Amino acid sequence: LGDRPIDKYLYAMRFSDETLLDIMNRFKREMENGLGKDTNPTATVKMLPTFVRSIPDGSEKGDFIALDLGGSNFRILRVKVSHEKRQTVQMESQIYDTPEDIMHGSGTRLFDHVAECLGDFMEKQKIKDKKLPVGFTFSFPCAQTKLDEGILLTWTKRFKASGVEGADVVKLLNKAIKKRGVILVNDTVGTMMTCGFDDQRCEVGIIIGTGTNACYMEELRHIDLVEGDEGRMCINTEWGAFGDDGMLEDIRTEFDREIDRGSLNPGKQLFEKMVSGMYMGELVRLILVKMAKEGMLFEGRITPELLTKGKFETKHVSAIEKTKEGLSKAKEILTRLGVEPSHEDCVAVQHVCAVVSFRSANLIAATLGAILLRLKDNKGSPRLRTTVGVDGSLYKMHPHYARRLHKTVRRLVPESDVRFLLSESGSGKGAAMVTAVAYRLAEQSR
Ligand code: BG6
Ligand code: GLC
Repeated sequence: LGDRPIDKYLYAMRFSDETLLDIMNRFKREMENGLGKDTNPTATVKMLPTFVRSIPDGSEKGDFIALDLGGSNFRILRVKVSHEKRQTVQMESQIYDTPEDIMHGSGTRLFDHVAECLGDFMEKQKIKDKKLPVGFTFSFPCAQTKLDEGILLTWTKRFKASGVEGADVVKLLNKAIKKRGVILVNDTVGTMMTCGFDDQRCEVGIIIGTGTNACYMEELRHIDLVEGDEGRMCINTEWGAFGDDGMLEDIRTEFDREIDRGSLNPGKQLFEKMVSGMYMGELVRLILVKMAKEGMLFEGRITPELLTKGKFETKHVSAIEKTKEGLSKAKEILTRLGVEPSHEDCVAVQHVCAVVSFRSANLIAATLGAILLRLKDNKGSPRLRTTVGVDGSLYKMHPHYARRLHKTVRRLVPESDVRFLLSESGSGKGAAMVTAVAYRLAEQSR
């Protein structure tokens, strides 16, 4: 990333390690605020208890339905966990459409839609009459006091259905599917559990997709909001809200503010808006518009397409940053926007994409670094050896994102040996694991 005139707009997006360490420290304090009884009510990073107390131990079994709502796809899965010689998992799944008018309509309609799709799935699977336990991955911030309850605190990302904020989403789902026994998990938790199935050392789950978030295993003695001091519990940090109290104003740019103003939830999820897939393409587009207006790109040509919100997508950022075909992809994508790009334009746009996606990976490295340091302190050991489960389209599809993130984390937290484990099968498997444990415990206490 060299020094060129276009860096006038980009220098504010490139951070020194000193700045990243500073951000890491700020996030560390935010986590402490969220965990404290007195500080939690006003904390921006909510640190929500999940009531998940351990990763899978290999004894889980049964036949489950998993619903996965809130990421780029609404997916329904059947997960069969059996024990013959060893634990094996069989999964079948189907993706269902969730049109925008349903995401933005009434809550009742949204949950009726979920119920309809579930009905279709059960029919196709020929399990209409089976009463299978349901694990519900719902990737939004929910306040939980047990596994089968969750009050939606606020919608984030692309959803804004009415009458759901402040309500128990498990109740709403039960009502729609005329069933009891739904277990609720955040997608970060589902991801950590999916990865924990393969690697017992997994104690962090992160998502870098439409939105971004992380969960990790915290010592119960540090969780003021939950009774008991023994053992651990998974905390859903909801780190996407980092900065909502002004804590990141010094690093937000005019482009970040513009993204926020045009969003479904102005003033909220400010960290998420700087890093996640739902906003990255749009961030690049806003920078390109500004540069074109100043004559630094496309000989000043500005087209209606270039000015259209959403016309430049995060998958285009990933394509343009490809090592070999990146520049020809840039030409293709920009030509479709009608700006008649020169070779130099393509190089410059590739540079803009790299700066924006690098910033994202760097910021996630800082917040993840704070979680790793916390885990290390909790264990009281000089080095931390751990596994981080990861999922999300940006992390998976971008050609350099994962490598850059890993490298920066290792530089910011040199006292850690981190294994990053991609969740190949999404969060459904993990949700089934949580459901299996919950059902076993419920049966034992009967
Ligand atoms: C999927 C998980 O693999 O990744 C979902 O199963 C999660 O639970 C999603 O929400 C996140 O990625 P994206 O890019 O679809 O938002
Ligand atoms: C948003 C949601 C959060 C979720 C994340 C990733 O930040 O608030 O619950 O985990 O997106 O999907």
